[in-house]
Amino acid sequence: MRGVLGDTPARDYSQKLKQFNAFARPELCRAMDDLGLQAGMRVLDAGCGTGDALAWLGARIQPGGVAMGVDLSLAHVEAARETVGDPTSVIQADLLSMPFRRESFDLIWSVNVVHHLSNAVDAMQVFKDLLRPGGRMAMGQSSFLADMYFAWDARLERATNEAVRQYYRDRYEVSERELTSVRAIVGLMRQTGWRNVRAHSYLIERVSPLHRDDEVYLAETIFRQSWGERLKPYLSPEDYEALSQLSDPAHPKFALRRPDFHFLQTLSFVTGER
Ligand SMILES: C[S@@+](CC[C@H](N)C(=O)[O-])C[C@H]1O[C@@H](n2cnc3c(N)ncnc32)[C@H](O)[C@@H]1O
Repeated sequence: MRGVLGDTPARDYSQKLKQFNAFARPELCRAMDDLGLQAGMRVLDAGCGTGDALAWLGARIQPGGVAMGVDLSLAHVEAARETVGDPTSVIQADLLSMPFRRESFDLIWSVNVVHHLSNAVDAMQVFKDLLRPGGRMAMGQSSFLADMYFAWDARLERATNEAVRQYYRDRYEVSERELTSVRAIVGLMRQTGWRNVRAHSYLIERVSPLHRDDEVYLAETIFRQSWGERLKPYLSPEDYEALSQLSDPAHPKFALRRPDFHFLQTLSFVTGER
């Protein structure tokens, strides 16, 4: 039941998911719009987390559409039920044993999930069985590390990214490949026999002054939780001090208020047909 990044039914990182979805909402919604969703479709969000995308998908298939979410974590399921306002449309289950009949869906959407699964190949087969013939799978993955955090200091950015990688390797004992799962999705879909496999990446690009949702995600989820104290063992004292100043909203050097702040991260979608 435990995935490579330690997910369990009891694990709860719902605040982080809410913050990411508020941040990446424009790009996630663009990806949904590009899928050509239509009224009446049946859509599954596999690994729906806090249900933000599930709500946006549901709104795009009315009237008559059905949007179901499945997630392993009880806390995420409860958050998703609240987000969509319909407890029956979110189910707590492992993606490998979902309680749906074969060929129940027109589309399966799954974002930032594949790298959490210990057996992604089996999951792809399950997804295929749940789609009607000609139904589509949309696998989304944001890059593990952004392409640019500190436009003005590529060296510190590189040191920080390497520190994050080291932390994940030590904490979860995951390999470089598992940390860069965006690279695996095309191969995984081809290996598991999907037709018309296509990839398209959206760029999450932000400059200062930032929208509040952007500032909350970057300052809270990235600077405070992903970086913060836990990177201390992996950085020189000088770099740790510089990073702490850039990450601190109360410090005059706070990165997000710099006029040259420019952030770049990819959000890739790979689609395939059953
Ligand atoms: C990084 S989160 C992404 C959530 C959501 N798709 C989003 O984009 O906000 C990964 C999600 O996959 C869920 N998950 C991990 N392993 C799972 C499994 N075996 N079965 C169902 N859900 C799983 C986790 O509980 C978590 O909610």
